[in-house]
Amino acid sequence: MGDTFTCLLALALLHVALGAAVGQTDGRIRYDNYAVYKVKYESLGQRNLLRQLAEDRENFRLWHEAKDELHVMVSPSGLAEFQAEVLQANATAKIFIPNVQELIDIETTENARATSEDFGWKKYNSLAEIEAWLDDILARYPVITEGFVLGQSYENRTIRGLKISYKSGNPGVFIESNIHAREWITSATATWLIHQFLTSEDPLVRTLAESHDWYIVPVLNVDGFVYTHEKDRMWRKTRQPSAISSCIGVDPNRNYDSHWMENDGASSNPCAENYGGPRAFSEPEIQAMSDFVGSIKTKLNVMLAFHSYSQLLLSPYGHTDEEFPDNYDDLMEVAKAYGDAVEAFPYGTVYRYGSAAGILYTASGATNDWAYNEQGIEISYTIEFRDTGRYGFVLPPVHIVPNAEETLIGLIALLDKCKSLGYLNLKY
Ligand SMILES: *[C@@H]1O[C@H](CO)[C@@H](O)[C@H](O)[C@H]1NC(C)=O
Ligand SMILES: *[C@@H]1O[C@H](CO)[C@@H](O)[C@H](O)[C@H]1NC(C)=O
Ligand SMILES: [Zn+2]
Repeated sequence: MGDTFTCLLALALLHVALGAAVGQTDGRIRYDNYAVYKVKYESLGQRNLLRQLAEDRENFRLWHEAKDELHVMVSPSGLAEFQAEVLQANATAKIFIPNVQELIDIETTENARATSEDFGWKKYNSLAEIEAWLDDILARYPVITEGFVLGQSYENRTIRGLKISYKSGNPGVFIESNIHAREWITSATATWLIHQFLTSEDPLVRTLAESHDWYIVPVLNVDGFVYTHEKDRMWRKTRQPSAISSCIGVDPNRNYDSHWMENDGASSNPCAENYGGPRAFSEPEIQAMSDFVGSIKTKLNVMLAFHSYSQLLLSPYGHTDEEFPDNYDDLMEVAKAYGDAVEAFPYGTVYRYGSAAGILYTASGATNDWAYNEQGIEISYTIEFRDTGRYGFVLPPVHIVPNAEETLIGLIALLDKCKSLGYLNLKY
């Protein structure tokens, strides 16, 4: 009885604290004076100290993690604790976004300014806008395009994809995008690529478009994506509630049944941003992806999973940095081709590459590992788009077209290299 009361009281207090920490107007969560810090460290001990901090969702949220640094969003009320922890860990912290809400407000204004225009890439489109645009494309290009359905999300939304095929006998490229809800640049880029494949008159783009079969899912995490547009711009996970916690959602990119939860590659804490879920494939979106890709795997030569941010190409493995895939050298050569092409492009954007666990940290149950390990797709990457932290997830819309253009240039180089290394031969 006493315990129950204490527990209820604690819950009530927690609600008050949450309501106060996260201001709300018009139902949207606000991030006034939430700052993002880049924390540098050297030892594993320092990292673990700081990482613990990031699991306290109320005041700290992990934005990015690498071998030698973390990017953490800190609430105004968590600032003192954050500074004390950084000091205790002997690490150094540098602020690079002083007020997250300011970036969100600018983005909201830009999006509103552009809504009167047709579907385009001067703004970030909503799921409804993307789906209407897909319908329009299917009506306009009935021979070349074909819609497909992956399945239903937890909230019963239909997860849709588009296949583009100009002729039979092409190798297949699958593009998974917006598995992480707040990474809006990914669906913006995926839709821009679709537009180019259908309309570009550039001979290089025509060859690219017409000599591959494209399977493109612009928004995989549909529930999370809608949630970022309507409630919380910084949401990452799915929206399925947990049976053991009041925290909602699973990190879908840790939920595939491939070395699931191995080597601390995901968190078992439902409140963590990288919660792996109660079991592999617990998320209907990921089960749907698995069923669909499994049904066409002999047609697929390449798997690309679009993410942001960091400007990285990550190959398998994610679950360990002690072993490397058999064709690791080829994977690195292909990644280098992408990076070189992007850097040589006028924007000069620099991409780094390596295995996910080698370059960042262990992350198990991700799309690229699952495609490689379980589906026999030998060319498989996570691509982390712009930027390196100046804007992070709230990348201004003015970056959409440049990011997409350099992705296209990178893809041409990547697939050319795959072809010359013999990875585009038909498997069926
Ligand atoms: C930080 O430095 C102090 C003094 O040099 C040392 O005692 C302590 O163990 C260090 N802490 C960490 C987490 O490295
Ligand atoms: C989804 O649809 C099913 C079947 O109609 C229903 O039982 C379920 O409650 C719905 N889920 C949500 C979250 O709306
Ligand atoms: Zn991501």
